[in-house]
Amino acid sequence: MSESAAAGLPPRHPEGGFAADPLGVLEEGHRRNGPVFRMPVDGVETVLVGTWAGLGELFGAERGRLEVLNTALVHDLFGRALFNLTADRHSEARRRLRPALSGRELPGYVPALLEVAEPVAARWARHGAGDLHGEVRELTGAMSARVLLGIAPAEAEAVRFAADFEAFVEATGAPPGRARFTSARYWAGRGARRRLHALFARRAAAVRREPDGSALAVLVAAFTGAPAAVGPLEDHLLALLIAARETTASLVTWCLVELAGHDEHARAAAAEARTVAAEPQSVVRRDALPVLRAVLAETQRLHSPNVLSVRQAVCPVTLGGHLVPAGTRVAYSPSAGHFDPAVFPRPRDFRPDRFLAGQANASRLWAFGGGAHACLGRPLAELMTLTALACALRQGLPRLPAGPPSRIRYRPAKAPIDPLPFTLECQEPAS
Ligand code: HEM
Repeated sequence: MSESAAAGLPPRHPEGGFAADPLGVLEEGHRRNGPVFRMPVDGVETVLVGTWAGLGELFGAERGRLEVLNTALVHDLFGRALFNLTADRHSEARRRLRPALSGRELPGYVPALLEVAEPVAARWARHGAGDLHGEVRELTGAMSARVLLGIAPAEAEAVRFAADFEAFVEATGAPPGRARFTSARYWAGRGARRRLHALFARRAAAVRREPDGSALAVLVAAFTGAPAAVGPLEDHLLALLIAARETTASLVTWCLVELAGHDEHARAAAAEARTVAAEPQSVVRRDALPVLRAVLAETQRLHSPNVLSVRQAVCPVTLGGHLVPAGTRVAYSPSAGHFDPAVFPRPRDFRPDRFLAGQANASRLWAFGGGAHACLGRPLAELMTLTALACALRQGLPRLPAGPPSRIRYRPAKAPIDPLPFTLECQEPAS
C-alpha cells in the first residue's frame, strides 16, 4: 500500500478567532495537532502546515504538487507576474529577475537609498510623524520606486507614479471573483495598470539609452529576448513594487516600535547607525553592523510581515503522514517555528542579543518563506530596512508618545490599525 493510501485526512481544528489572532490560533492548532491540521480560513477549508519540520516537508514536496493559489482578481491585475507562473516558466522568470535584486548589484543601490531615506528621517527628527506606519509606507514606496525604476522623489514623474500605484493597490482590495467587474476601484486599478505599464516601457527605453544605476537597466537586459511564456517585464515590475512596499514597511515599522520600547537596544543600534555616515557600504556587508542586523532578525522572528502563504494541491500529496487530496487549499505561516521555546528561549520577548550571542541562528527564520516561491527580494528588503533604520537612528532614539500600538491587523502585512505618533529624540544638542 502506498504511503498516501495509508494516510488519513489531517486532524480538524475548531473554527474561530483566526481573523483577530491568527498567530495564536495557529500556535494552539499546532500544539494540539502537530505540524499539519485543517480548519476553515476565511470560510474555506484549509490545510495548515507549520513548525520547522512541517515547513521543511512542505517545501520538499512542493514542486509539481502544490501551486500558488491566486484569485481571478490577482491573475487579472498581475497578468504573468512571477507568482502567477508555474513550472518551468516560473523557474525561468526567477532566474532572470534574481540578479537585479541581489549580489553584486546591491552596493550600487546604496547611495540612491540613502538619498531617499535621509531627508525623511531628518523630517521625523524635526517634526515627528503623526502615523509611523503611514510614513514608513511612503518611504518604502519611494525607495522601491528609486531602486526598481530609477524614479527620484523630486521628479515630476514621482507624483504621477505614486497616484497610479495607489489606485492599482486599491484595486487589489476589490472583490476577488466575478463581482470585481461591478467594482469602481477595480476599473480605476485597470486604468492605473495601463498607465503604469506605459511608464515602465518609457523608462525601460530611456535606461537602454543611458543606464541610471537602478535595477531597471539590469532587468531590461535580462528580459531582452526572453520567451513570451516568462511574462512581460511590465507585469514583473508591478509585482516587485507591490511585494517590496507593504512587507518592508511592516518590518521597518516593527523594528522602530520594538526599539522605542527597549532603550538599551536602541542606544546600541544608534551607536552603530552613526558609523554608517563614514562607511555607507556597511549596509550591504554581512559582517558589518551586527547590532542592527540582530534587531532585524529578532523583528523578523517576532513580527513576520506575512501571516499566511497559500497553495493548492494539484494532485494528492502526503504531508505529516496525512493525505491531502487534490484541489485542497494548503497554507503555511512564515512565523511557523518562530515561537518555539526550544529554539528561541523566552520566545515572546524582544531579545536581539540572542542573535548576537550566537544562541539563535537567523537561518531558522522563515519570514521570507521557502521552497519554490521563496522571496526573491530578501537581500533588497534587508538593505532597504537597514538603510531606513540607520538613517532614523542616526537622528535620534525612537519614541512613541502615545504608547505602542494597541490594535494590530495581520493582512496584507502585519501593521498597527490606528495612527501611531512617532518621534526621534536627539541624543546630542545640535551643533
Ligand atoms: C520585509 C520584506 C519582505 C518580506 C517579509 C517578504 C516575504 C515574502 C514571502 C514570505 C514570500 C513567499 C510567498 C509564498 O510562499 O507564496 C515572498 C515572495 C516574493 N517576494 Fe518577498 N518579501 C519582502 C520583500 C520583498 C521585496 C523587497 C521584493 C522585491 C523587490 C520581494 C519580491 C518577492 C517576489 C517576487 C516573491 C514571489 C516569488 C515567487 O513566487 O517565486 N519581496 N516574499
